[in-house]
Amino acid sequence: MVAPLKVGIAGLGTVGAEVVRLIESQARVLSGRSGRGIRVVAVTARSKAKKRNVDLRGVEWVKDPLALATHDGIDCFVELMGGSGDPALSAVEAALKSGKSVVTANKALLAKHGLKLAKAAENHGGALNFEAAVGAAIPVIKTLREGLAATGINRVYGILNGTCNYILTRMEQEGLSFAECLKDAQRLGYAEANPSFDVDGHDTAQKLAILASLAFGTKVAQSAVYVEGISSIAPEDLRAADDLGYRLKLLGVAVRTAKGIEQRVHPTMVPKSSSIAQVMGVTNAVTIDGEGIPPITLVGPGAGGAATASAVLADIADVARGIRAKPFGRPVAQLRDTKKAPMERHEGGYYIRLLARDFPGTAAAIATRLAEQKISIESIVQRHPNGGNAAADGKTSPVPVILITYATHEDAVRRALAAVQKDKVISGRPQVIRIEKN
Ligand SMILES: NC(=O)c1ccc[n+]([C@@H]2O[C@H](COP(=O)([O-])OP(=O)(O)OC[C@H]3O[C@@H](n4cnc5c(N)ncnc54)[C@H](OP(=O)(O)O)[C@@H]3O)[C@@H](O)[C@H]2O)c1
Repeated sequence: MVAPLKVGIAGLGTVGAEVVRLIESQARVLSGRSGRGIRVVAVTARSKAKKRNVDLRGVEWVKDPLALATHDGIDCFVELMGGSGDPALSAVEAALKSGKSVVTANKALLAKHGLKLAKAAENHGGALNFEAAVGAAIPVIKTLREGLAATGINRVYGILNGTCNYILTRMEQEGLSFAECLKDAQRLGYAEANPSFDVDGHDTAQKLAILASLAFGTKVAQSAVYVEGISSIAPEDLRAADDLGYRLKLLGVAVRTAKGIEQRVHPTMVPKSSSIAQVMGVTNAVTIDGEGIPPITLVGPGAGGAATASAVLADIADVARGIRAKPFGRPVAQLRDTKKAPMERHEGGYYIRLLARDFPGTAAAIATRLAEQKISIESIVQRHPNGGNAAADGKTSPVPVILITYATHEDAVRRALAAVQKDKVISGRPQVIRIEKN
């Protein structure tokens, strides 16, 4: 009879408390699948007094996460405190260095220190499992690390932040502003009081950095990710996307190019017919383009206690089974430096929305500047407010003009629009959104 796996859990919040509950309620299934029992023997959190609605009778309370990480009585340290610094970092590192396996849902920690931690796991023989760190219950880490181990990956992209997808979905379906939808997301608990980490794209960037490393065998490098958030998106962009056959999503995209690995997070027009365009609300999705196989799209809940705990438990079950996969899919020594493809050289189609001043020669001036940069226009839509009639005071308002370009380089678009602005033929700043084709 194999002894049960003894688990120490640091963090008893949304995810940690659910993990404790699930280990209890799924005990039979887990031991059936892992070939041995799984027992929580010790826990820690900031406050011992806090009511948590979990049964911790017979479980040792350890005051300090570092002491729990190196506790002689545990085989597996489960880090669910969050944050890229201490105590999570020093505790995970100490657990790995003492030969224990670690399970964590902490994308911030992995995006920043993943390489160092993978090295520690490799040197000391423990596992470092982090399925829940990207897409919560969606088994995307396993898919890249194991399921597609023999497949070259060309591109991996996805909706990795439920808050942003919820906001964009509401904006699209109800014609509401970004600010209104953000407020609702906060009221419903989908967005933090300080929403910047989500809506400015940083959460997506951390997850993308992890996926890119697994997909391309490169060292995880969050600093290599270009990031733009969704706060500048206006209802008219969503209406125009709809008219033109697109949906607007905040995507994280990692793609192999001739100039290196492009890693970028930004609002993106995706064809309405694509799988990723069907993903609405807080749901997450990841599409993987592998060599010689049609794209694979995984869709599911990307957050929430139960969804995240389900992935944490699957990782714990792997530890119990004795599985020791390389954290980033291959030995650390084989992971290559990330050659960052410069964003200026990004090539693709663009959606451009301008407010053109309503006087003769404006359209020609814009067309000239685009032509100078060899940008070809696929379609152009002019939306005349008031049917083009002058207002009561005789003045005409600027005219929204929407352009869709054929594939071109980012720096050409930036140069052309800088020249258009200098010509003073538009009001305000142009809105530029990249297009991602299937
Ligand atoms: N929530 C999700 O949907 C979700 C999804 C995917 C991944 N994750 C990841 O899962 C991890 C946990 O998230 P969560 O939502 O469960 O967070 P949470 O609800 O804020 O819980 C954090 C827990 O860690 C404890 N903690 C924080 N700092 C500590 C410290 N210095 N020493 C000891 N304990 C400390 C807290 O103790 P107290 O309870 O005493 O304050 C709390 O129990 C994070 O890495 C997060 O990114 C979460």
